[in-house]
Amino acid sequence: MKQQLRDRFGRIHTNLRISVTDVCNFRCIYCMPEDMAFMPDAALMKFDEILHLTRIFAGLGVNKVRITGGEPLVRAGVPQLIAQLKQINGVKDISLTTNGIGLITQAQALYDAGLRRINVSLDTLNEEKFEQMTRRKVLSRVIAGLKAAHQCGFDPIKVNAVAMRGFTDDEIVELATFARDNGYQLRFIEFMPLDADDIWGRNMFIPGKEIIEKINAVYPLEPVTLNGDAARDAKSDTAKRYRFADNGTEVGVIPSVSEPFCENCNRVRLTADGKFRTCLFSLTETDLLTPLRNGASDEAIAQLIRDAVAQKAAGHKINAADFIKPERNMSRIGG
Ligand code: GTP
Ligand code: 5AD
Ligand code: SF4
Repeated sequence: MKQQLRDRFGRIHTNLRISVTDVCNFRCIYCMPEDMAFMPDAALMKFDEILHLTRIFAGLGVNKVRITGGEPLVRAGVPQLIAQLKQINGVKDISLTTNGIGLITQAQALYDAGLRRINVSLDTLNEEKFEQMTRRKVLSRVIAGLKAAHQCGFDPIKVNAVAMRGFTDDEIVELATFARDNGYQLRFIEFMPLDADDIWGRNMFIPGKEIIEKINAVYPLEPVTLNGDAARDAKSDTAKRYRFADNGTEVGVIPSVSEPFCENCNRVRLTADGKFRTCLFSLTETDLLTPLRNGASDEAIAQLIRDAVAQKAAGHKINAADFIKPERNMSRIGG
């Protein structure tokens, strides 16, 4: 393809993550504060604007789209948006990251819209810890949401658990048991400095390696080795993948801090207010929504995108002395 989003390091960007809202019905401590101020409605990309921008991205080689939030399912009409995104020429894969409770009522509509893959966030099965983590008392509704998705036939269903030292250390094997019993693909994510209350510290994430050792001690694991890359399917994947040797269900870790995977990153992001970010940790972003609203041509917008990708940093600097935390917390980026 002539017009692909290749950066200075030769990385080709084919994976677009679109945040459809910064609003969330949870207040996870690793992501946002209790008193979050949300974007005004007028600042949010309308669905036709999301579709327009996605068509431009598809023309630049993007073939994978993930819908994120805040919590995407608090915005009305997401199934209809997904049905329309699926029709865009070049978009081959579409998925959604959700906190799960919206699935109780919307799983079927999402499935009917053509969505097949979802990722659900669930960090603990302990009700008290769940409430401390999310500041909401809704664990049973997340589990009900997962069940609703399972009954509809979503496959795979991935469960994302942010692992926090001193908090969920003793949840690791319990979550693994829950996931393997239900056929969900569990991935533990290392806590990254994208929270809003500055609680992140180097002593607060649990390294992926330690998590795998803990699970392996109870349930022997084997790495999923595809494409010759040990425990990663595509080189650009976030997750190191393993499977339970006795039942085949996959489990993994996303070791963003201890084993950064920026070298093979193929992800770019659109925030709910239409800002283009080439990295979770970017300190700059490119406004695409204002030019779109001002009538800029598709080619002019494509050029803004290409220019931003050309400037993409080599990777995050979480482990460097000169790390600067981005102004946006996770809920305003999308995950
Ligand atoms: P699939 O391959 O489609 O499952 O997507 P995914 O693995 O990216 O899934 P998901 O969106 O659930 O991402 C899981 C988590 O990985 C996110 O919530 C982030 O915490 C982290 N993550 C995703 N993309 C990146 C990235 O580009 N860099 C870093 N450092 N972390 C990321
Ligand atoms: N570090 C790592 N992952 C995070 N998420 C939110 N905040 C953080 C953080 N600080 C994850 C959530 C959810 C997704 C949207 O992002 O677990 O799955
Ligand atoms: Fe890509 Fe940035 Fe994530 Fe690294 S931190 S993998 S460059 S988005």
